[in-house]
Amino acid sequence: MNPSPILTPVNRRHFITTTGAAVGALAISRIAHAAGSDELKIALIGCGGRGTGAAGQALNVPGNKLIAMGDAFGNRLEGALKALKEEHGEKVDVPADRQFIGFDAYKQAIALADVVILATPPGFRPIHFEEAVRQGKHVFMEKPVATDAGGVRRVLAAAEEAKKKNLKVGVGLQRHHQAGYIETIKRLHEGAIGDIHTLRVYWNDAGVWVNPRKPEQTEMEYQMRNWYYFAWLGGDHIVEQHIHNLDVANWVKKGYPVKARGMGGRQVRTAKEYGEIFDHHAVEFFYADGSVAFSQCRHIRGCWSSVSEHAVGSKGIADIGGHSIKGSDGSAWRYKGGKDVDPYQQEHIDLFAAIRSNTEYSEAANGAKSTMTAILGRMATYSGVEIAWDDALNSKINLMPDSYTWDTKPKTLPDPDGFYKVAVPGTTKVV
Ligand SMILES: NC(=O)c1ccc[n+]([C@@H]2O[C@H](COP(=O)([O-])OP(=O)(O)OC[C@H]3O[C@@H](n4cnc5c(N)ncnc54)[C@H](O)[C@@H]3O)[C@@H](O)[C@H]2O)c1
Repeated sequence: MNPSPILTPVNRRHFITTTGAAVGALAISRIAHAAGSDELKIALIGCGGRGTGAAGQALNVPGNKLIAMGDAFGNRLEGALKALKEEHGEKVDVPADRQFIGFDAYKQAIALADVVILATPPGFRPIHFEEAVRQGKHVFMEKPVATDAGGVRRVLAAAEEAKKKNLKVGVGLQRHHQAGYIETIKRLHEGAIGDIHTLRVYWNDAGVWVNPRKPEQTEMEYQMRNWYYFAWLGGDHIVEQHIHNLDVANWVKKGYPVKARGMGGRQVRTAKEYGEIFDHHAVEFFYADGSVAFSQCRHIRGCWSSVSEHAVGSKGIADIGGHSIKGSDGSAWRYKGGKDVDPYQQEHIDLFAAIRSNTEYSEAANGAKSTMTAILGRMATYSGVEIAWDDALNSKINLMPDSYTWDTKPKTLPDPDGFYKVAVPGTTKVV
């Protein structure tokens, strides 16, 4: 959660305000120089959109080289390799014998690297993170870090192990590396709006891609290609996207909710290619001090959209995502910014600086607990009942398949017409 000493909030602010995007590379190079420029070998596991982006951001940090890639599907790996090679040239050194395909690709790719980037759908993250830690590798892993409580517990345990092994772990909750958020939340923690009793956090928008079934696909391949719509793979959109906003609420509250209750369903996105997930969730998350985060996430076109976080306190209000604060005494503050480094880039600058300077850096436990917050919300909307954090975290319901092959039958299967069972509040059990 905290930036490395090389880029503390204060000198990072100096870094940000004295560098624009155009001169960002120069600043990165100075940092690398200051911290020593030993080459670090990177392996990318999960070569999709975000994996390609994250690998590119890691390669923008001098001294880093991409040396291995792994993906479940050959075509995804090839596309990412081509794009990365075009942009980063010789920093991409992934010959055929360091390209790994299939469910076990991660093990071989991890073995060759100093640092691994984990960017598959989140259902696989606990397995991949455990293995990276077992093999003693530093990690950048995308959010969310699991899709069920068992996965969160595995990540929490591996996070402890990573600390013991002095491994550095970054998690792709990039708002923690975005100057406007850092500055705003610092002020909230200093009491700028008094005691914060209410938060509103939203991810309401139109939704994402869909990959309809192809006749030659096994059920496993279909679900893997269309992963967004299956809870074991993607977590539902409350976990996959809304985690960002819920994580901001946790950051502001310096803690995690003790219970949640909510409602949700699927009213518009009901076709069979939308699998089993809901298209809207509304949840109240209660923190130990009695404060509440009101959360909404919706994937429906033609509706009011907002991806934002707001706080209400005893002495004022804050638009956290808009980086502004208004005191009830008439005072007003707005983050000036203007020359910020892209937070997707900054999170890699911070992680690699910590690795090179051997400074403690561990975002895994917070990543796991913010993932759990989102899973708690999903449990509340799927079941319709109030769920306590401890019951949610200790849930024995395991969404993951028993094995991973193209012929494995996932636990969620279609009916003869191709439709999947969808959670029914009042009936569905989640703990
Ligand atoms: N931080 C952010 O703002 C942000 C933005 C986008 C995505 N993400 C996260 O990044 C992750 C990936 O999302 P994406 O948009 O890149 O998805 P994607 O579908 O484009 O890429 C996922 C890749 O993982 C591969 N894959 C699937 N299962 C695998 C396995 N078992 N082993 C190896 N490879 C496997 C897929 O074939 C695919 O190439 C998700 O967790 C997502 O939430 C984060």
